[in-house]
Amino acid sequence: MAILVTGGLGYIGSHTVVELINNGFEVIIVDDLSNSEKFILYNIEEITGKRPIFYPFDLRRKELLTQVFDAHQIEGCINFAASKAVGESQLKPVDYYENNLFSLINILQEFKERGISNFIFSSSCTVYGQAETMPIDENTPLKMPESVYGKTKQMGEEILIDFAKAYHRKISLLRYFNPIGAHSSALIGELPIGVPNNLVPYVMQTAAGIREKLSIWGDDYPTEDGTAVRDYIYVVDLAKAHVKALQKLINDNSDEALIDIFNLGTGNGSSVLEVVKAFEIANKVEVPYQICERREGDITVAYANVDKAEKELNWKSETSLEEALRTVWQWQKYLESKNS
Ligand code: UFG
Repeated sequence: MAILVTGGLGYIGSHTVVELINNGFEVIIVDDLSNSEKFILYNIEEITGKRPIFYPFDLRRKELLTQVFDAHQIEGCINFAASKAVGESQLKPVDYYENNLFSLINILQEFKERGISNFIFSSSCTVYGQAETMPIDENTPLKMPESVYGKTKQMGEEILIDFAKAYHRKISLLRYFNPIGAHSSALIGELPIGVPNNLVPYVMQTAAGIREKLSIWGDDYPTEDGTAVRDYIYVVDLAKAHVKALQKLINDNSDEALIDIFNLGTGNGSSVLEVVKAFEIANKVEVPYQICERREGDITVAYANVDKAEKELNWKSETSLEEALRTVWQWQKYLESKNS
């Protein structure tokens, strides 16, 4: 069974491709390499012993996408391809709406015309905004996200729900909390392009001496140590959830629409300072930091209630924060050796 993985050379995409191959799926990757690199494909092959079929193009090019669907018996899609920089999305809203939504709609056109079901969408806990109560379960009311990036995720969800209902298809909306870490082989991980915005890549580069010190955005939040709290989920655990979500859609034999929604996190919140300390302990390195003003648009606390994924997907995160942070450091060492 061939599964189309868009953005399959990206961070979460590449880890999911490995898990799909390990579970016997044939994988077809479409990735325009805008935020990824070709060597990831060869490293996926090194890990799994199989090189996925790869098409390098932008999903807005509908005619090329049609050719891929003509050439392969595609039975499902996991759609990772999207622009994801929150700050950039505010400066380039039209580009973000165009890229993230047109590519989604192009795939759905193919699905609609060819009668294909089984669509998994990379969504984000950003659709909840600052939730009133913790932990956040799937029934927590959605809030219009502050960023254009977040809005493209919420709009993507709505488009997919309408698609599933109208054409009786099966979809799964996976709301990620904060993915971190790299594969245990250290052959794939999050590629730092430019100055990282996210906490863990910044911590990694600070420990490596690429950045002088980490800026901690605010220590006056109403949390235990004053820094903001998130749910950091190990990327390989997250990737495994995609395979389970896909298998659930495939195994559903009814002709009705199926709309699955899952929060994917660990269920535990960690503060920024806790992450920094855990990184230092796990890797026996120092992470110099300074406390700065809060970052605009940041929420105070977000962590998941993961009962639904545990019950319906038989999945839960297995990897501790420290273990996940050890893989981050191994990945940094790999990048250093590769570039030297
Ligand atoms: N942080 C710092 N210093 C940094 C980077 C981050 O203190 O250099 C803090 C942030 O202020 C925040 C925490 O670390 O409190 C986590 O920040 P990230 O940028 O790593 O993650 P966010 O939770 O802000 O953002 C993530 C995803 C987004 C998504 C959002 C939804 O990266 O794509 O969750 O809440 F939209």
